[in-house]
Amino acid sequence: MALLCSPMLIINRPKSAYWQDWNDSQKAPWIFWHIGAFWYRFQELLGNYVLPAPQRVCDMASAFFRSQVIITVNELGVPEALEAGPKTGQQLAQQLGVHRDYLERVLAVAERLKLVAVSYPQPGNEEAKLYSLTQLSAVLCESHPNSVKHMVGLFGDHFPAFAYLTEGVRSGQTPYKLYAKGLSHWEHMQQQPELYTRFNKAMTDFNNLCPIKSVFSAYDFGQFSRIVDVGGGLGAFAAAALAQCPQLKGQLFDLPHVIKEAKQAWSSQRKPLLRRMSFSSGSFFEPGKVPAAASNSEVFTMRQILHDWSDADSVKILKQVRAAIGSFTGCKLVIVESVLASKLMRNTHTPRVTGDVHMMVQYGDARERSEAQFEQLLAASGFRMSRLLPTKSLFFVLEAVPV
Ligand SMILES: C[S@@+](CC[C@H](N)C(=O)[O-])C[C@H]1O[C@@H](n2cnc3c(N)ncnc32)[C@H](O)[C@@H]1O
Repeated sequence: MALLCSPMLIINRPKSAYWQDWNDSQKAPWIFWHIGAFWYRFQELLGNYVLPAPQRVCDMASAFFRSQVIITVNELGVPEALEAGPKTGQQLAQQLGVHRDYLERVLAVAERLKLVAVSYPQPGNEEAKLYSLTQLSAVLCESHPNSVKHMVGLFGDHFPAFAYLTEGVRSGQTPYKLYAKGLSHWEHMQQQPELYTRFNKAMTDFNNLCPIKSVFSAYDFGQFSRIVDVGGGLGAFAAAALAQCPQLKGQLFDLPHVIKEAKQAWSSQRKPLLRRMSFSSGSFFEPGKVPAAASNSEVFTMRQILHDWSDADSVKILKQVRAAIGSFTGCKLVIVESVLASKLMRNTHTPRVTGDVHMMVQYGDARERSEAQFEQLLAASGFRMSRLLPTKSLFFVLEAVPV
């Protein structure tokens, strides 16, 4: 009986069961993290051994069928429609205002991907079939503490540019520019502000995709009096640092229109931290715009900045940060990014190299970098890499000191 009831038990789990804080996974010892990463790799290897090559290669080549289903489920708001409880196909289609047959065919794939669970309260009656939320679709709800809704939306925005990858590789042109009729990703988003708004929110989701606690467990921000987050977007990283370290003051720096959005977001959602935060805007390419250091106990942070830029541009940005540090050579620079080809995290290498292609599609000569490449960039800009720390996420923490 228990066995028969189990699908209903799964499907009727209370919403709170899925509203767990995934940052708690950071408490697991390193060994578990490595075993988990290896498990993913092992399944891939096992699949390679068992499945015929034609099937494997076609499965990989058609992976975008699946990714588009996830993006569509997210974009239509299916997870949020299921937040209040299970629904039939008819109820869902009505609530979302969409074509019922198409929706249910998409949901059939979503079920295989464990994005929705299905139950039959009246066996044999398809009409009464119920769809409900799962652990995976719960994080596509904006209200989830570790939501990645906007990040998944951003992947959808980036998808069309990937269609120009072949042409880009043939011609050496940036695929995104081919897609956006000559505009860079930044220019395109500035022309279509709703794209930039989603991008900014997606960057906030990075605190969940690469759990922010992974960075704070690896590196102690408690040693500093002020954090200057360069290209800090809406300030998700700086906010987490301020919440973690009560002594810390913050300075957020980004382009003017982003800082305008950030100020609005902070005054509505981050009020308790606001009195420790200040904002300034400009371009990190322009001399004198990156906020200047005022003491030796400050940290300049850059999360996911340098991978958006070519080596030449990265050196220009780093030189502006070095100029902002000036004679306060006790200050540190902390870069939070992926690092390629690191022996420390071999089993999680695949997302980093695909991330490198993502950067190429978006920005051309931008790239993910190896430790040696970061060392070169830093040395060319008046810094020396002092530490490279892995985290229990795709990110590394690179600490550099001015020379
Ligand atoms: C990949 S996002 C990272 C955002 C943030 N560091 C985070 O991790 O949440 C890159 C950021 O660089 C900012 N940016 C792009 N060009 C810039 C420029 N010329 N000057 C200052 N910021 C810039 C973007 O607005 C965006 O917020």
